Amino acid sequence: MLEIQHLTVKYGYHPPSVKDFSLSMKPGEIVSIVGESGSGKTTVIRSLLGALPKGGQVVEGDICFEGESLLGKSDEEWRQLRGKRMSMIFQDSGVMINPIRKIGGQFVEYIRTHEDISKKDAWQKGVIMLEKMCLSNGENIMNSYPFQLSGGMRQRVGIAMAMVFQPKLLLADEPTSALDVTTQAQIVRQMMELKEVHNTGIIIVTHNLGVASYMSDQILVMQSGRIVEMGNQEDVLYNPSHTYTKTLLESVPKMEGKRYV
Ligand SMILES: Nc1ncnc2c1ncn2[C@@H]1O[C@H](COP(=O)(O)OP(=O)(O)OP(=O)(O)O)[C@@H](O)[C@H]1O
Ligand SMILES: [Mg+2]
Repeated sequence: MLEIQHLTVKYGYHPPSVKDFSLSMKPGEIVSIVGESGSGKTTVIRSLLGALPKGGQVVEGDICFEGESLLGKSDEEWRQLRGKRMSMIFQDSGVMINPIRKIGGQFVEYIRTHEDISKKDAWQKGVIMLEKMCLSNGENIMNSYPFQLSGGMRQRVGIAMAMVFQPKLLLADEPTSALDVTTQAQIVRQMMELKEVHNTGIIIVTHNLGVASYMSDQILVMQSGRIVEMGNQEDVLYNPSHTYTKTLLESVPKMEGKRYV
């Protein structure tokens, strides 16, 4: 489904921020990326979405998504792809949602940029999506302003928007770090459900090794733009080979001699 080969990304004339990054993902697979601040996690995610900040450029490698190379796509082609086949959840969906407009208007507009349907149908589609994200009264949410919702509810609105077209690949850059533990758990469960029900592949950037180990088929550890460790939960958490991974694990507290990640 996704094949990243030797991806190298640079910002201006600085040394590469991501170097020789390769990853292969099957449909419905969940991959977690962990690593210290500045190690290049967001840069990887943004490269996949064709949304690097100004100055950022893929200088080597290739990204193949569902059999086609993503590099060299036109802006229009990217617009077609984003939202529909591939979408993203941001750290705080509040960033994506305009704070001074009601959810409903924004959701309807978003749906209609990708699909030629009436406002009424788009509204209905929005309501159904919100309810799938365990926001029990979808109509109410649609009629609310973002500030009337809790952080967790806003995040679920963000996920509902990201999932409305049932993309094959969902990218999530620290989607739960702004949330309390209970809400985090709900969001994680919701993402797992997407995988189960729609066979959505997910790449999640997280600082939380617990989340990473619970969710993922593959865990990637990055340091200074490179993958320093890669494998399933067993490999990475129980037999870490890289010093940095060991340090990361040691920072997770132990209880009764067992490390709960
Ligand atoms: N817009 C930019 N212009 C120039 N350099 C950038 C830009 N964005 C990121 N970088 C550089 O790229 C490197 C990787 O940054 P990136 O944001 O991908 O890290 P990260 O792993 O997501 O960190 P964090 O955990 O703090 O979010 C850093 O050295 C950073 O300084
Ligand atoms: Mg980041």
